[in-house]
Amino acid sequence: MNVLVVGSGGREHAICHALARSRRRPRIFALPGNAGTEALGTNVPGDPCDIDLALSVARRERIDLTIVGPEDPLAAGMVDAFEGQKRRIFGPSAAAAQLEADKAWAKQLMKKYDVPTAEARVFGPTEQERLRAAQLDTDERWPSKLATGYDQACEFVRSRDEALVVKATGLAKGKGVFVCDEPAQALLVLERLMRHKEFGPVGETVLVEERLNGREVSLLALVDGHTIYLLEPAQDYKRVFDGDQGPNTGGMGAYCPSTAIDDATLAQIQRQILVPIVDAMVREGVRYRGVLYAGLMLTLGGPRVLEFNCRFGDPEAQVILPRLRSDLIDALEAVIDGRLDQLALDWDPRHAVGVVLASAGYPASSRSGDEIRGLPREALDDATVFHSGTKRRGDAVLTAGGRVLCVSALGPSRDSARRRAYEIVDGIAFGGMQYRHDIAADEPA
Ligand code: AMP
Ligand code: GLY
Repeated sequence: MNVLVVGSGGREHAICHALARSRRRPRIFALPGNAGTEALGTNVPGDPCDIDLALSVARRERIDLTIVGPEDPLAAGMVDAFEGQKRRIFGPSAAAAQLEADKAWAKQLMKKYDVPTAEARVFGPTEQERLRAAQLDTDERWPSKLATGYDQACEFVRSRDEALVVKATGLAKGKGVFVCDEPAQALLVLERLMRHKEFGPVGETVLVEERLNGREVSLLALVDGHTIYLLEPAQDYKRVFDGDQGPNTGGMGAYCPSTAIDDATLAQIQRQILVPIVDAMVREGVRYRGVLYAGLMLTLGGPRVLEFNCRFGDPEAQVILPRLRSDLIDALEAVIDGRLDQLALDWDPRHAVGVVLASAGYPASSRSGDEIRGLPREALDDATVFHSGTKRRGDAVLTAGGRVLCVSALGPSRDSARRRAYEIVDGIAFGGMQYRHDIAADEPA
């Protein structure tokens, strides 16, 4: 069996690693992969969002199953294109991936179907607003720009006397969310997103949300259109610095299982959030098939949705998948074939802790080309160093992105897994390396 994994991060390395344990002994291809996936199969260079390229690789290498790691190719319609050519592929269609790729659409869907989430308003240069702006554009002292959604967004923010969250509605690699303590900060963000277009078109339309308080948890599930199969809960660390300080990142570490969600809350999340959203998709004529990742806040008023993602989390995958004892290919095929009701996954009882090693400047920028020293030479029984932004040059492995590695260790307790992960981290070094020292140290805020 030949399997193609699309993407180049730690999540994709973790998927390849799980595939390498499959009893079906697949030949693994990664588009484009990294220095970690190279050791498990064949890397094919190229842009993971290039759908024609992915299709031609699938034809050339006689790929039986394609697994899409990141959100961008999903939102661009890679699954639709493969299915159109009767090729087996794991992930949601472009229409279903809107749940992540268009936060305004997702918010409207949640409101329509009473899925608990933060209150929000959407502002942006809609066609109607643009038209209105053009009609008003008769006086050069009042340029049309000022008559778009930006003004209304500012007016709304000024009318609130509370902490707010401003979000770019499109895909921004986890960096398009700004948690603001007060409206003045939110106004600055609106200016950056809507006037200076810092994120381009993905940030031109914004959501202004009420800020929720509580414990944040991620819950990932396999969904085959109807049936929801929960994966083991994982805890992610989004802020760049220790003690949850600094800006949001894609994720600086994770552990699994998380004990933040008790059984009663889990049942509540299933009943009030997961079942209604999967049903809502069916009713809207957009069947959801793939991994559904719910980012949740456990507020005093119950669990509420912060966001949905349409794929495995990164670095959540690096602590969930190493604990999966069942065959990953069986699980993904059960999703594709609509047989999730017959699936029973077996998990390693050990705990997994993953610590992300990032390059200098991350998340604002990232430095590439630093040589990574101290990578374990042999496979370890109780840990894996997953590669994210890395590339090989001769015998050397160099940094090639913001998040560089994720050291993921297993242990009989969370604390032993944590100690083992940091022991391995201590042996690794590259110029500008930064990481959090408090992953899995205590319960995060
Ligand atoms: P998102 O990408 O929407 O999950 O947002 C990234 C991070 O911003 C989340 O993990 C939360 O820490 C924070 N966040 C997003 N929305 C809210 C909200 N309404 N209230 C409080 N924090 C939020
Ligand atoms: N770790 C968060 C994400 O994958 O979006």
